[in-house]
Amino acid sequence: MSILVTGGTGYIGSHTVVELQNAGFEAIIIDNLSNSNPEVLNRIEAITGKRPKFYEADIRDKEALKKIFAENPDIESCIHFAGLKAVGESVSKPLEYYNNNIYGTLCLVEAMRDAGVKNIVFSSSATIYGDPAFIPITEKCPKGVCTNPYGWTKSMLEQILSDVTVADKEWNVILLRYFNPIGAHKSGTMGENPSGIPNNLMPYITQVAVGKRDHLNVFGNDYDTHDGTGVRDYIHVVDLAIGHVKALNKIKENCGLKIYNLGTGHGYSVLDIVKAFEEASGVKIPYEITPRRPGDIATCYADASLAKKELGWEAQYGIKEMCEDSWRWQKNNPEGY
Ligand code: NAD
Ligand code: UFG
Repeated sequence: MSILVTGGTGYIGSHTVVELQNAGFEAIIIDNLSNSNPEVLNRIEAITGKRPKFYEADIRDKEALKKIFAENPDIESCIHFAGLKAVGESVSKPLEYYNNNIYGTLCLVEAMRDAGVKNIVFSSSATIYGDPAFIPITEKCPKGVCTNPYGWTKSMLEQILSDVTVADKEWNVILLRYFNPIGAHKSGTMGENPSGIPNNLMPYITQVAVGKRDHLNVFGNDYDTHDGTGVRDYIHVVDLAIGHVKALNKIKENCGLKIYNLGTGHGYSVLDIVKAFEEASGVKIPYEITPRRPGDIATCYADASLAKKELGWEAQYGIKEMCEDSWRWQKNNPEGY
C-alpha cells in the first residue's frame, strides 16, 4: 500500500517516511524543497535500505498532482506535512502563508478527491488552542485565538478538512495536533535543519552548543511557571512519526473525522531544557534573559490519553533522549545536510 507524503523531505516528514518504510508501507514523497534538502533521500535510504519515490513538485501545481495520482494508482492515503511554518515570518508575509498552506491544501484535497483517495492525516498544531482554556489540554479544549497567520492557517485547515467529512462520508480525516517536536533519528544522520537563525528553542540551543551562536536568549522569566520561563510539551520526533503510522491504522477502520493531541503530557520550562541538554551533552549553554517574545504563552502541555486509548500510541522517549539525539545530529552535521 502506498502513502503519499507531502513535505516528506522536511523535518517531521523525513522521520515519518523512515517509520512508514519500517512498518512496510511504500512512501511516495512530494516536496518542492523550499525548506528541505534532497540529501535527506540518501539518509532515508541508508537507514531503511529503501529509497522512497520522490517527486520534486509544489502541491499547488495541479497538473503535477494529477500526474502523481495517475502514475501511482495504489496510493491509499496521504499524510500532509507540506507547508510554511515560521511563526514570525507569517506575520510579515501573511499572503504567502495563506497561499501556500490554505490554497496548497485545497489543491491537494481536490486532486485526492478526483483520484478517489479520501484518506488524509493532517499536521496540525497545539497553536490552534491559542492561550489554552485549561491545562493539560485535551482535544475538548476549545480552539482559541491564534496570534499569527501561521496559526490561523492550521485552525482554518482543520475547519476545511472537517467540513469535507460532513459533505462526503467516504472521507477519513485525522487531525494530529503536535506539541513541540524536538530530537532526531538515533543514527545521528537525520534531524532538524533550519535555514538561517533558528526560531525554535532546541535548534537554537544545539547551535550554541556547536559554537555557531554565542548564547541563548531566554524570552522572559516572569511567566507564572515554576521558574518564570515558558513551559512546553516537548516530544521526540520519532515518537511523533510513529503516531502517524498509528493514525493510518485507524483510518483503515473508516474512522471519519478524528482529532488527537500528540504530546507527552509533561511540561518543561526553557531552563529545564537548558539543564537537560547540558547534562546530555556535557556542553555548557550560556544564556541571557531577554524580554518576552510577542505572542508567546506561559504554559502549554497535552493530555495525550485519547491517542493512547484510540490509537494505541504513547510517547516512548523522555527528555534525556530528546536532548541526546538532538545533540548527536547537530554534532555530526554542524552545517546540516
Ligand atoms: P519542514 O519545513 O521541515 O517541512 C515541511 C516541508 O514541506 C519542507 O520540506 C518544504 O520544502 C515542504 N513544502 C512547503 N511548502 C510546500 C509546497 N507548497 N509544496 C510542496 N512542498 C512544500 O517542517 P516540519 O517541522 O517538518 O513540519 C511539518 C508540518 O508539521 C508542517 O505543516 C508544520 O506546520 C507542522 N507542524 C510543525 C511543528 C514543529 O514545531 N516543527 C509543530 C506543529 C505543526
Ligand atoms: N524560547 C526561548 N529562546 C529561543 C527560542 C524559544 O526562550 O531562542 C522559548 C519560547 O519563548 C518558548 C519555548 O522556548 O517558551 C519554546 O519556543 P519554540 O519557539 O521552540 O516553540 P513554540 O512553543 O513557541 O512553538 C512551536 C512551533 C509552533 C507550534 C508549537 C506547537 O514553533 O509552530 O510549537 O505547540 F505551533
